[in-house]
This record gives sequence, C-alpha cells and structure tokens, in this order.
Amino acid sequence: MKDYEPIMSFGEDVAKTYDDEQRGDEDAAVAFLEKLARGGPALELAVGTGRIALPLTARGIRVDGVDISPAMVERLRAKAGGDRMSVTIGDFADVPVPGTYRLIYVVFNTLFNLLTQEEQVRCFENVAAHLTDDGSFVVEAGSPAFLYGLRDDQHVDAESVEVDAVRLDVLRHDPAKQMFDESHVSISSTGVRLNPIVQRYAWPAELDLMGRIAGLRLKERWDGWEREPFTGRGNVVSVYGR
Ligand SMILES: C[S@@+](CC[C@H](N)C(=O)[O-])C[C@H]1O[C@@H](n2cnc3c(N)ncnc32)[C@H](O)[C@@H]1O
Repeated sequence: MKDYEPIMSFGEDVAKTYDDEQRGDEDAAVAFLEKLARGGPALELAVGTGRIALPLTARGIRVDGVDISPAMVERLRAKAGGDRMSVTIGDFADVPVPGTYRLIYVVFNTLFNLLTQEEQVRCFENVAAHLTDDGSFVVEAGSPAFLYGLRDDQHVDAESVEVDAVRLDVLRHDPAKQMFDESHVSISSTGVRLNPIVQRYAWPAELDLMGRIAGLRLKERWDGWEREPFTGRGNVVSVYGR
C-alpha cells in the first residue's frame, strides 16, 4: 500500500473507538497469560489501550508495555490502573526496555504489523535478550490458511449491513511478499471512513525458525487461549522458551 506507515492504523480516530467492541477473548487470554507469568514481571509488546495488560495487572502481575502510538497509550492511561503502568513509546521490534521478564507476549496478530521478516526476527532476538532463563514468549497470530479460500488473491466481506451504515473489509494479498493490504471501510450518512492496515504474515513453522534463530524453542501451540488442539486453520497461540 503506497505511502502506508504502521502508525496510520492506530491514530486518534482508531484509539477513540478501539474499546467500543471487545474481541471477547479477554478473560481466557488473561487466564492463560497469568499462569505462564508465575508472578511476573510481564511485558506486553504493542500494549495498545491495555485491553489485556490492565486485567492482567489487576490479578497482581506487574505488566510493562511498549507501543508506537501515543493515542492508544493515552487511552490506556485514562483507565483504572493505567496511570501506574510503565509504558515505553517505541518500536516493539527493538524491545526498548531495561531488565528481564518472566513473560513477554504479543497478541491479536500484532507481530505481523512488523512488515519485514528481518524486523520479525529482530523482535524474537530482542525478546530472547529480555527473557529470564525460565521465561516464556507468547505469540498469538492467526494462521494464513484462510488464503486458500481467496479468489484472485483478494476479498470484499460485508462485516455489517444496517439501515443507515455498512462496514466492509477489503483485502488484497501479495503472495510474493507474504503481505496483505487491508482496509475496513465504513459508509454511512456521515461519510466514508477508511481504516487501512498492512500485515506481513508468517506460517507457524516460520515463527518457529525465528525462535530458533533467537535461541528459543516452541514449547506449546494451541488454536486458542482455551488450549484448543492446534489445527493450523484458525487462531494460533505459540509459547516459546529456552
Ligand atoms: C491490534 S492493536 C493491539 C493492542 C493490544 N495488544 C490488544 O490486544 O488490544 C495493535 C497495537 O500495536 C501497536 N503497534 C503496531 N506496530 C507497532 C510497532 N512497530 N511497535 C510498537 N507498537 C506497534 C499499535 O499502535 C496498536 O496499539
């Protein structure tokens, strides 16, 4: 997508409405992560508005965060407990924080917001440098298997159709680059709103190789936070450690 910058996907407009619709996996994700944190501390890469980090903090785990978007972090700060969290504004590929963590995690497909293989490998390497010897790195990222269902490497999906508004998901796939250009398009009487996002996806096996390059190995893999058996077709929750 010409002229795209990742920060465009998480500016003021998106931050304002980000928490309006919850994804619905929050309780299960927090329970899964709390168990692996074993008392903490934990670090969320791309912490956003604290959707996962704040309920994890409420369970007594210290959670620090990294995010590139001041607008998203401002929303986090406005929530209960958000003012006490240590959040660094920066690129999570760098893991720009001091110290080590028992748990580092990146959820909601966000590893794929790093737009090159090199950046994703750099992220794994920097995570490894900030993980305690007994620590875990959790990556939640959807399987690219849905690509098999695309016609001509693209789709337009009707996400919602109401009397006064429609929401479409428009996606184009570049198999050579392993990338999607996507936009959520809202059309209503107040006008048209575009939410562009670009992702560089990786199959689970490629993530495992990134882990190995960083000195980490796959310890667990599930289809979701409830530890559903891995099928390779849906959500993918991977746990790495030394
Ligand atoms: C889909 S949101 C996820 C937020 C939160 N983890 C959650 O589950 O609700 C993606 C977040 O990643 C952040 N982000 C994207 N690319 C980033 C980067 N390179 N470094 C730091 N944060 C980044 C965005 O600002 C946004 O807050």
